[in-house]
Amino acid sequence: MEINDKSGYKAYLPKDDRYAQMSYKRCGTSGIQLPMISLGLWHNFGHADDLLKGQQILRTAFDHGIVHFDLANNYGPPYGSAETNFGRLFRDDFQSHRDELFISSKAGYDMWPGPYGNLGSRKYLVSSLDQSLKRMNLDYVDLFYHHRPDPDTPLEETMSALDFIVRSGRALYVGISNYPAELAKKAIEILKDLGTPCLIHQARYSMFDRWVEDGLLDVLGDTGVGCIAFSPLEQGMLTNKYVKGIPEGSRAAKSMTYLEKETVEKNLPKIKALHEIAQSRGQSLSDMAITWLLKDKRVTSVLVGVSSPEQLISNVNALGNADFTSEELAKIKQVLKS
Ligand SMILES: NC(=O)c1ccc[n+]([C@@H]2O[C@H](COP(=O)([O-])OP(=O)(O)OC[C@H]3O[C@@H](n4cnc5c(N)ncnc54)[C@H](OP(=O)(O)O)[C@@H]3O)[C@@H](O)[C@H]2O)c1
Repeated sequence: MEINDKSGYKAYLPKDDRYAQMSYKRCGTSGIQLPMISLGLWHNFGHADDLLKGQQILRTAFDHGIVHFDLANNYGPPYGSAETNFGRLFRDDFQSHRDELFISSKAGYDMWPGPYGNLGSRKYLVSSLDQSLKRMNLDYVDLFYHHRPDPDTPLEETMSALDFIVRSGRALYVGISNYPAELAKKAIEILKDLGTPCLIHQARYSMFDRWVEDGLLDVLGDTGVGCIAFSPLEQGMLTNKYVKGIPEGSRAAKSMTYLEKETVEKNLPKIKALHEIAQSRGQSLSDMAITWLLKDKRVTSVLVGVSSPEQLISNVNALGNADFTSEELAKIKQVLKS
């Protein structure tokens, strides 16, 4: 609910029934449960974006029981601005709900110039998280990730930096992202030996990108580590958005994004075929793409990005139709193989 104050600012009162809107799943064998739908702030929260829209998206998320917000040092553009804007919106709307929220950030990609602003050294990870905390006005994050493997820094150094980050109170849990199966296994073992278990792996996973099925999900299942699937809608390709071409304002129509027009065009036949299967199930393609991921017990949460509150509500509603028949699964498999 929004309440106008005298200055015109619409104060926010979260909905009382917010937790009835969402289902929660245990993250591996940890004590943490995550909402089956989480919200990522990679796009739509930078200084280039409309902050009021961002405010509406965050309010809509919390009103629907989405308590996990995912950030990284370099989200924007420019770098850092998604955290700065999140910090402002957090201060206005969520400060008194801090203990209800599970906020993550990451470091691992290029952030500042020179040898200490990238990859996986202890120097980079600790100072980057200190910067993130300042930008977000937080005392700690719930979860801090190493964002991608660093081929040159010893894995022991990176993992001991994560361990230090927890022991120094900067984060409650740690995770890894974009680590291939074998390296993930080693990282998980090192963290376990250090006494700071790896909570979760954040991996790209969608109907169009299934690399995690070649070993990573088995490692995570065997070691009791959760999995959160990023880009589950392939940045919008697995939605109804592109079924009839590339609309204005979409990611594929904009420059400065990672979704290219050519990629959408190449995938159109599959998108249309999947859209038909979704329709026969009485749901949208995006709903089907989300629930298809969650059918695997090892997938804790699906991490969506949205450019409007309506998209987020539609993604939450997907959870209402999550069961697949074996015929439907076979049809989907056939399309994905083609
Ligand atoms: N760890 C990593 O390396 C990594 C990398 C990438 C992302 N991530 C995380 O994952 C999050 C999600 O990634 P993503 O943004 O690529 O995810 P995504 O959910 O695959 O794509 C989001 C885009 O899909 C479209 N969309 C979403 N819901 C829709 C709906 N119901 N109907 C129609 N279109 C819909 C919107 O596109 P339009 O903007 O065109 O409307 C939206 O911006 C990021 O915010 C970030 O937190 C992590």
